[in-house]
Amino acid sequence: MQTTNNTILITGGSSGIGLALVKKFYGLDNKIIITARNIHKLNEVKEKYPAVEIFQCDLTKPDDLDACIAFIKQKYPTINVLINNAGVQYNYNFKSEPDLTQKIDYEITTNFTSTVKLCAMLLPVMIKNENPAIVTISSGLALSPKKSAPVYCATKAAIHNFTKAFRYQMEETPLKVFEIMPPLVDTAMTEGRGTGKISPEALVEEFFKNFKNDKFESYIGKTKLLRFLKRLAPNFADGLLKNGL
Ligand SMILES: NC(=O)c1ccc[n+]([C@@H]2O[C@H](COP(=O)([O-])OP(=O)(O)OC[C@H]3O[C@@H](n4cnc5c(N)ncnc54)[C@H](OP(=O)(O)O)[C@@H]3O)[C@@H](O)[C@H]2O)c1
Repeated sequence: MQTTNNTILITGGSSGIGLALVKKFYGLDNKIIITARNIHKLNEVKEKYPAVEIFQCDLTKPDDLDACIAFIKQKYPTINVLINNAGVQYNYNFKSEPDLTQKIDYEITTNFTSTVKLCAMLLPVMIKNENPAIVTISSGLALSPKKSAPVYCATKAAIHNFTKAFRYQMEETPLKVFEIMPPLVDTAMTEGRGTGKISPEALVEEFFKNFKNDKFESYIGKTKLLRFLKRLAPNFADGLLKNGL
């Protein structure tokens, strides 16, 4: 996959892994558009990287999603790379969470439904452009879930399966489908929990090499080992992840 001269939409590009992706692709002759809910965080990115286009959008709101698609189609019809990065993780117990159904909806819509819809809505435009590619971000937790975040883990397993089947459908087209399976990464999402985290920049560095070499699945850091363990000793692998890392 070419790493320059792309028009790239990165959802959740204002923080963590999304921001590390911006830093990596910025300056390599790529046009970058990022979305997020918080306009202040978007403006901060814009101040540091003036050529980045920002678009405020809550991916759980159908009107926002439609507005984002309309904006891209009108202003950036050359879009050829979509990086579905935005995500939320809520840790809760089904026995005691007061906002249970609200959190379930929000998590599934942000992490899974909006990703699938963005693929669907942008595909007709992207497929006409040169070198199209779609990237999704699942997690090691797609392989073995942790007790504290059942819905989050389920959305990541769903992304993992969706990405594979979507890649099958794109086999007869020029569109390449990539997936990143991160281990625990040091971002706002994991603040205050977990040990042995890698930096978002280290994660992106490894993904970037795979992206360049058309390696479609990026198992990164400890998820490489988890994948191996899951085949060799599935119960042991599940036990390791059960209480988080
Ligand atoms: N960190 C890890 O250990 C880890 C591991 C595996 C996978 N991942 C995945 O990597 C991706 C990035 O996570 P991160 O760790 O970089 O988290 P992060 O630092 O919290 O960044 C999440 C980004 O998504 C945006 N976002 C969240 N909900 C949104 C919504 N409803 N609509 C639009 N934008 C939304 C956030 O901006 P606003 O808050 O302004 O909306 C932010 O820009 C996620 O898909 C996550 O599940 C992370």
